[in-house]
Amino acid sequence: MMNNLELLYSSQEIEQAISQIAATLNDTYKDKDPIIVGVLKGSLCFVSDLIRKLSFPFTLEFIRAKSYGLRGDKPQEVTIEGIDFDISHKDIIVVDDIFDRGETLHKILDELNKHHPASIKSVLLLRKKSKKMISLEPDYTLLDIEDKFVIGYGLDYKEHYRGLDGIYAFKSIP
Ligand code: IMP
Ligand code: MG
Repeated sequence: MMNNLELLYSSQEIEQAISQIAATLNDTYKDKDPIIVGVLKGSLCFVSDLIRKLSFPFTLEFIRAKSYGLRGDKPQEVTIEGIDFDISHKDIIVVDDIFDRGETLHKILDELNKHHPASIKSVLLLRKKSKKMISLEPDYTLLDIEDKFVIGYGLDYKEHYRGLDGIYAFKSIP
């Protein structure tokens, strides 16, 4: 299975990038007690590694983002599930796997903002060089990738490959 895969970022490179972003967050949130909101399922590995490097108090929640429709030139229909915790007047840190065309993050911020948080920042592990559908940028991104389909470290292809410890691209789509 691995010989169709090209390694883009090793687990060591991912860890190093997470240490850097954790240092920034540790400085920004040192006197706060934010809610970290992980976006299932792709942020699974990222969230669990990130939280173990944080030195400020926080609580942890998860939401789920689902996309509908073919990925073409049209915007995807994204729905957000699981905002069943109180976020009013709280500082929120959204943690997700990948910023591709931006619709998912846009929708997440839209939904969270309806509940009047004190602040929201977004932390994205990967940022893909693709045609963006909207003029929105994440507050923090860790690693850049070309416009290729990637898997591993939580990211899936047809729900598989989430357990790979690095980030890989397919040499050819299976
Ligand atoms: P966006 O809404 O176009 O920014 O897409 C973001 C979502 O699409 C991510 O949270 C992933 O679930 C999924 N996605 C986009 N690109 C990839 C990829 O290369 N591999 C795996 N999932 C991806
Ligand atoms: Mg996702």
